[in-house]
Amino acid sequence: MEPDVIFMTGDFITSSSRRVEELGEVLGGLKSKFGAFACLGNHDIWNQPHRVRVALERHGIRVLTNEHSRVRCADGEIVVAGLDSVWGGYPNWAKARRGLKGDDRVLMLMHEPDYAEILTKDASIVLQCSGHTHGGQVRVPGWGALILPRYGKRYQAGLYRVGPMQLHVNRGIGTVDQHVRFWCPPEIACLEVTNIGRF
Ligand SMILES: [Fe+2]
Repeated sequence: MEPDVIFMTGDFITSSSRRVEELGEVLGGLKSKFGAFACLGNHDIWNQPHRVRVALERHGIRVLTNEHSRVRCADGEIVVAGLDSVWGGYPNWAKARRGLKGDDRVLMLMHEPDYAEILTKDASIVLQCSGHTHGGQVRVPGWGALILPRYGKRYQAGLYRVGPMQLHVNRGIGTVDQHVRFWCPPEIACLEVTNIGRF
């Protein structure tokens, strides 16, 4: 894909952080031009958030929790923000946006997609990238997901417009509970985002 930036939207572990160092090493090997960023998911926070964060950051992945980062790109800079999981933690956009300039446009990492209903109220956020749902893992053609998690009921998978903001929900590459997928393949999404930088 040769991406400019890599976004990872949380739930790196389900319940055990035993192999999270190996995971950090693998994910840290992904190459991008301007950096890799992550937010944590509810499972990370319910279990060992500190170990997950350390394992990722040791391998060059910046974990954003209620904060933002300016990313120097080829022609200017973009702003990437990340919030805490709403199911597992305490998202605080007021804190994360401190220091933003008036015309900054923000790419947001937020684990749970349904939080878009809140974030769409801030016009500076142009895109929210989420995970959490796995697309439902098991989908019925013509019907959709059989089971969806809390805070992942409204926006199951794919690209949505929520007010002036866009929301992308990736199906992720893993599974939770039953290790099965049906009509819902794992995915690494490639997004082309235009007209959002400060140039
Ligand atoms: Fe989750």
